[in-house]
Amino acid sequence: MLIRHPTDILPSEITDKALYLSRRDFMTAAGAAGLVLAGVSGPVEAKLATVPSRFSTADKPNTKQEITTYNNFYEFGTDKGDPAVNAGKLVTRPWTVRVEGEVMKPKTFDLDEIMKLAPLEERIYRLRCVEGWSMVIPWIGYSLSEILKRVEPTSKAKYVEFTTLKRPEQMPGQRNAVLDWPYVEGLRIDEAMNPLTLVTLGLYGELLPNQNGAPIRIAVPWKYGFKSAKSVIRIRLVEKQPISSWMSANPREYGFFSNVNPQVDHPRWSQASERRIGEFFKRKTVMFNGYGDQVASMYAGMDLKKYF
Ligand code: MTE
Repeated sequence: MLIRHPTDILPSEITDKALYLSRRDFMTAAGAAGLVLAGVSGPVEAKLATVPSRFSTADKPNTKQEITTYNNFYEFGTDKGDPAVNAGKLVTRPWTVRVEGEVMKPKTFDLDEIMKLAPLEERIYRLRCVEGWSMVIPWIGYSLSEILKRVEPTSKAKYVEFTTLKRPEQMPGQRNAVLDWPYVEGLRIDEAMNPLTLVTLGLYGELLPNQNGAPIRIAVPWKYGFKSAKSVIRIRLVEKQPISSWMSANPREYGFFSNVNPQVDHPRWSQASERRIGEFFKRKTVMFNGYGDQVASMYAGMDLKKYF
């Protein structure tokens, strides 16, 4: 199945299809493809069909403009504006995600299969970057546990490692050794199975823009943003704690857990407050980025200064 962007679909193609399918059949066919085509006779807009999520924050989402032009995606450059300028060249179809390691049923998932694996939810999440800014993003996706349970983790699966695509021809930032490519991140298995951990396939009703991690990224809203790997090609369940790209770049500054914690400062700056993009005054940073009710129990009895 090919999902095309609205600009790729000629109005004439839509009219032709609509002529030989009744409007209702047409909408059903589009729905089966995961798309709702709004305004068949007017301008065509491909929207992903989603259901609302009980995990959404009531915070006001940032604008699509803010979310798609102020990014961290070092594969496309280290300036906030670089990904929006450079990520257009990344080819995101065909795309597969290999899920392997300590599992009974390792499997290579095609993106089309991933799109249909579970109902797509709109989840409005806060994202707190380790650098001290934050955003609110209406992501689209479903819990990562939906994928993990299908490969049947063994009792040795204690951690989950995520690997981003390495393709320097299309990812110009990978020609610089700012990080050890490919970008690798990891979670403990209970963190990965927590329903809040999102397989993210879209935002603002549409497929993910490349600069936000197309075609598939992870979103872990109670951790600093760098834990949420973009453009993922491999998910490996492992026995030992993975070494993430940021840990190997600077273990003193970036720990494995990296839970949002206003009481544990980054060695070079305070984490007590943050600037929400689009706002003038700073906000106080909240423990676990405000998701404590859902996640605090996973860290009961743990020294969160030691395991930062
Ligand atoms: N994933 C990859 N592969 N490369 C990156 O540089 N940056 C991380 C994270 N995921 C990054 C990544 C950081 S630091 C943040 S804050 C978020 O992506 C930013 O996500 P956004 O640009 O969609 O807001």
